[in-house]
Amino acid sequence: MVLNPGLSRRDFALPTACRFFCPFVKIRFHVVPLLMLGLPLGVSAQTVSDVPRAARSQESPSGSDAPKPAAPSPDKPAEAPPFYKEWKMEDLLPAIADLGKDRNYRNGGRVFQQAACGACHSFSTFWEGSGLAPDLTPVATKFTRDEILRSILEPSATINGQFYYTNFKLKNGTVIPGVLREVKDKKYRIAGSVATPDATFEIPEEDIVSEEPSPVSPMPVGLLYGFTKEQILDLMAFLDAGGNPDASIYKK
Ligand code: HEC
Repeated sequence: MVLNPGLSRRDFALPTACRFFCPFVKIRFHVVPLLMLGLPLGVSAQTVSDVPRAARSQESPSGSDAPKPAAPSPDKPAEAPPFYKEWKMEDLLPAIADLGKDRNYRNGGRVFQQAACGACHSFSTFWEGSGLAPDLTPVATKFTRDEILRSILEPSATINGQFYYTNFKLKNGTVIPGVLREVKDKKYRIAGSVATPDATFEIPEEDIVSEEPSPVSPMPVGLLYGFTKEQILDLMAFLDAGGNPDASIYKK
């Protein structure tokens, strides 16, 4: 079903280079957002591009006879650090109770992209996900906004019964979390991350002494720590709308 024929995931700032250099659909859909996992955690491409070109060119001169970097001019104010806040439920609960009608659809999609949600989750027609995390398109029809926010800020508080890691305990005492993909020739083929279902390793069945569900969600904590409150509210509206720009939440 094509919800928004006029739009594509590209509208949410997929890097141009990737469109050309990631020819495999699978890879394109989840490796790119994965690379961006660093973004919300502080290191940010955005920050680099925010630095004026002149300032950037003073950094790391390449050749040995390159000019020495100029001393920073004392009259320039220090650069603002990238945004970082360890968001707690209570910081956002009052604001998500009513998202109003003014949330920005496109920004919501950008946060979804930059926070790497689409590395694991499928969503609308824009993200394919990895297949090892729930489809988030209908999430607002299943959960309240509070529950959705808690799933994001505290992933291990409640873990979806269909998508979780199993802890495989080996004879030598090692515990390996992962998702069992297949048992073949008396070997377990396991994916070590829900973001990369095809990156698997094998463990001989005879080495495994027990298997139990991990109490820790495969979804990382802190994905939204690099985003402002306004950005998070745009994301919440985007989830609420199932990615549909014509959803009632955007109608004045
Ligand atoms: C590394 C993979 C991964 C990433 C990245 C990720 N998630 Fe998840 N998410 C999961 C998995 C697996 C589950 C199911 C386990 C659980 O309930 O914790 C899940 C559960 C959820 C749920 C509960 C939905 C349900 O049906 O149970 C929500 C809501 C959610 N994620 C939202 C997000 C959002 C929004 C982002 C981006 C900010 C995100 N996730 C990023 C893997 C991921």
